[in-house]
Amino acid sequence: MPELQRFSVSLDKNLIIKFDKHIRERDYSTRSKAIGDLIREDLVKKEWVGGKEVAGAVTLVYNHHKRELVNKLINIQHDFHDLVLSSQHLHLDEENCLEIIAVKGNPKEVEKLAHILKATKGVKYGSVTMATTGKEI
Ligand code: NI
Repeated sequence: MPELQRFSVSLDKNLIIKFDKHIRERDYSTRSKAIGDLIREDLVKKEWVGGKEVAGAVTLVYNHHKRELVNKLINIQHDFHDLVLSSQHLHLDEENCLEIIAVKGNPKEVEKLAHILKATKGVKYGSVTMATTGKEI
């Protein structure tokens, strides 16, 4: 358990009222946890911008009936094998597939991989979840 330190924050009263309502809706039981998460979110954004090692996931939805698409997506992942930790393929229905690719590495490389996968003909949807290795936060 990390050492805790208290500090006081002065904010506009209306902002505190809105913040308390917001964090209640998000099921936070304390302001401390909610504020800590906001700070960590910002630090993770900084990791992505600053080029530190990051972790995350690339999510794709595509129609596996598209000719050669599955092979193309696998070849691209092999080209970036240093980044790819694992991939999970789920069959959503007769033709649509959901693929979740867990990645770790340089954020620019992760974004490049995601852009190439997303831009592949036949991919209906692609997104990147920007997470963290957790080492720095
Ligand atoms: Ni499938």
